[in-house]
Amino acid sequence: MLMSKRSLPQTYVEGEDEAQTLIVTLRDATLGVTLELAYTIYRDRPVITRSARLINHSEQAVDLEKVASMQMDLPTQPLDAISLPGSYARERQLSRERLHRGVTQFESRRGASSHHMNPFVALADPNTNEFQGNVLGALLIYSDNHQVSLERDPIGQTRLTMGINEYNFDWRLAAGDSFQTPEVAMVYSTTGLNGMSQTYHDLLRDRVARSRYKHDLRPILINNWEATYFDFDADKIQSILDAAAPLGIEMFVLDDGWFGHRNDDNSSLGDWFVNRNKLPGGLADISKRTHDKGMRFGLWFEPENISADSDLYRAHPDWVLGVPDRGRTLSRNEYVLDFSQPDVVDNIFEQMTAVLDKVPIDYIKWDMNRNLTEVYSLHSDSAHEGETSHRFILGVYDLMERLTKRYPQILFEGCSGGGGRFDAGLMYYMPQSWPSDNNDPIERLKIQYGTSLVYPISAITAHVGTSPDELLGWSTSMKMRGAVAMSGTLGYELDAAQLSDADKQAVKRQVAFYKQHRELVQYGTFYRLESPFESNTVAWMFVSPDQKEALLFTFVILGAVQPEPHITKLAGLDPQQTYVETDTNKMYGGDELMQLGRYTTPVQTSDFTAQVHYFKAKD
Ligand code: DGJ
Repeated sequence: MLMSKRSLPQTYVEGEDEAQTLIVTLRDATLGVTLELAYTIYRDRPVITRSARLINHSEQAVDLEKVASMQMDLPTQPLDAISLPGSYARERQLSRERLHRGVTQFESRRGASSHHMNPFVALADPNTNEFQGNVLGALLIYSDNHQVSLERDPIGQTRLTMGINEYNFDWRLAAGDSFQTPEVAMVYSTTGLNGMSQTYHDLLRDRVARSRYKHDLRPILINNWEATYFDFDADKIQSILDAAAPLGIEMFVLDDGWFGHRNDDNSSLGDWFVNRNKLPGGLADISKRTHDKGMRFGLWFEPENISADSDLYRAHPDWVLGVPDRGRTLSRNEYVLDFSQPDVVDNIFEQMTAVLDKVPIDYIKWDMNRNLTEVYSLHSDSAHEGETSHRFILGVYDLMERLTKRYPQILFEGCSGGGGRFDAGLMYYMPQSWPSDNNDPIERLKIQYGTSLVYPISAITAHVGTSPDELLGWSTSMKMRGAVAMSGTLGYELDAAQLSDADKQAVKRQVAFYKQHRELVQYGTFYRLESPFESNTVAWMFVSPDQKEALLFTFVILGAVQPEPHITKLAGLDPQQTYVETDTNKMYGGDELMQLGRYTTPVQTSDFTAQVHYFKAKD
């Protein structure tokens, strides 16, 4: 990268001439402190990154109560703020509001980028839509507490400030030390929100993600969580493998419950050795069974948390975040390990490497099922209490760095009780993330639409679950579930052995179709066409870089007795080109598809329907 930022995730370059950095140095002669503002501008991307570094040249410690990564004043005009609030199972719901006088604030205080507010904001002209208009995006590359403040002053100017949340932050900067803030990646688009998103997708895929898989086709996986929860043994897994392999599924992921003596969520986090009662042949046996089927093998971990009923907790009760002489709050029956302490991180690193060095493992799902409370280290003192949260995430990043470096062949997927840590900081280590535990395809339309505002499709994993849905109980067709999941990095979250023959055939067709088109989905240019936040019809599409191929997905949420015909206008095609819609053999001009549009056929009277059409250029 252009300047050393120690252990924080950040954008990078692959060639000297890709970007230039300007460092503005400000000096406070009274305090003896220097502030370096780093601006990096990319040559071929409408991107400027900004971060700050504070250096204490004085002979005394300085207490930092707030250090933003960026601040920017925007000239007088009405502006809309677009943000991504949400909750568990309803992550990243797109929200847009006109900025009023005074301060508007978006933040997380959860010790994670959170389900509740993604560390992102866009400021758009009121007439900006998906296809036209000006918009400035700001994305904090960070996974802990964040704060975005938008202050509209008396003459209508807007001041955007973004960085680590000042809440629960107080950093004692010793004489001679420096403090580096996380980086903000700003993107400017004059072609609306799609233009902004496409720039973010390329940037995050190419210059934030570092995994060797960042440009690889992602394997289609099946995960046993919703199939078995904690109740599995080697025979059960074998039955899933036997059913999944002939369908063309490429990877099996063993989720929560394989370690310690864990049979429910009350025990064993922190004890990362296999549960021999459940799996007498150990992980090596499961890995071999999976590889024997020609599939890759993936494994679940939750490295940052600990159960009270664990050997690790019994040996080190002081390794848990908590306030001295006060109770600690359990959440999902878990405590949080004090990752601000290097010994704790080292212990988990050693436990994980003891597994990973022995067993052939191709993929890791890295979960984090609760937020931070009582954010205090028992190994800290009151002068450094306010450093714990940031030091915690630096410890997490350190573990991720060490593991991803040591096992470059492993594909890592982020997860946090669904999508509670779906952010650019994680993408630096893990090129894909689980966006939500909500697999209902109707709810997923909104979750995936909102997530795509910033994050690339290759990073958004999406699984076909069962019907009725596990969380909501809604019934949907295999086609609907498949179409939504194929709009991301496809997987399955069900018991393949329990599928009916008809569903097995449907899955087989989905898998074959997805393999044929996944490069287009994962690495094509993505266009949002019709929003689930605004209408009953939803549409998006993928276009290949040479504009010779396109894949269109349209969805109708609720059917109607007397439905009106609906026309969807496509985007990103070559207007001069003739395209063949391969399932109907109909021919359309590119200009025709974009200007006149295409009927969403057939007219729907039933609820929750999906259509998928592949277009190929005639020449
Ligand atoms: C939350 C994740 O989002 C789920 O997919 C699953 O891995 C569970 N945790 C396991 O505890």
